[in-house]
Amino acid sequence: MPDFSQISKKYERDSIVQKSASHDLLELLALQKTDNVLDLGCGTGHLSGLIKLKTDGKVVGIDPAEGMVRQATEKYGNEGISFFHLPAEKIAFKEQFEVIFCNSVFQWFKEPARVLKRCHDALMYNGRMAIQAPAKENYCPNFIEAVQAVKSDALTRDTFAGFTSPWFFLNTAEEYRELFETTGFKVKKSEIVRVSTYHTPEDVFKIFESGAAAGYLNQQFNADRLTTEYIQHFKKIVQDAFQGQADRSGTVELVFYRIYLLAVKDGDR
Ligand SMILES: C[S@@+](CC[C@H](N)C(=O)[O-])C[C@H]1O[C@@H](n2cnc3c(N)ncnc32)[C@H](O)[C@@H]1O
Repeated sequence: MPDFSQISKKYERDSIVQKSASHDLLELLALQKTDNVLDLGCGTGHLSGLIKLKTDGKVVGIDPAEGMVRQATEKYGNEGISFFHLPAEKIAFKEQFEVIFCNSVFQWFKEPARVLKRCHDALMYNGRMAIQAPAKENYCPNFIEAVQAVKSDALTRDTFAGFTSPWFFLNTAEEYRELFETTGFKVKKSEIVRVSTYHTPEDVFKIFESGAAAGYLNQQFNADRLTTEYIQHFKKIVQDAFQGQADRSGTVELVFYRIYLLAVKDGDR
């Protein structure tokens, strides 16, 4: 599992990109007042909290990172939301939710088809599931370019050679559609959009740290031991690369490709 526990303290503040995309996802789902909602990979629970404001139904958040779940429970546990320390691969709900909300999590699934099968079981008939996640191998050209520099720098290249990507990306909206349809969903919308926002290089680095760093700088996905020195060099190279991406006014255009997909569990009992 990615170690999001280590970044849970900073996550709620720095997850700018995940947050803005989540609003589009909520719109796509058009929540009803009676919907019971499962927030799959709820992180610090701030979106579960937002969902709870929109429904009188039950809201449940699950996440495998202990630190995230602890923080979510402390902050939103008294607001009628239940949080469980659990990966999506292990949920065992049966026809309990009208809605599954999954924001910026899908890329972390090792066995997406297995997760989708469990989600299908968890939904009531005509229930809907929506995901928003980075998509395409080139999901963020700014990050890919910065990491390319880590790959070729003499101080980091040997250790980086032992990194194996933990992420799941498909390159087309059609492939995402097919994946959902093979697990029994009917897909209402599947679209990859290019989203660009503007930031200082320092903020781009914070955004990098709030997500991608949990992969690149996670011992679990690296064959060589990650020393403090390596981590420092890695971060410095990435920071310099973001500085280099800034225009004359010191602004970086940060580009993400994102899949937005809405699917329903079709049919009657
Ligand atoms: C970028 S954060 C998104 C959190 C929240 N959904 C949001 O939009 O702010 C990714 C989250 O996915 C969780 N995650 C990673 N692997 C997971 C899995 N197999 N099942 C469920 N959640 C997972 C991480 O622990 C982390 O909290």
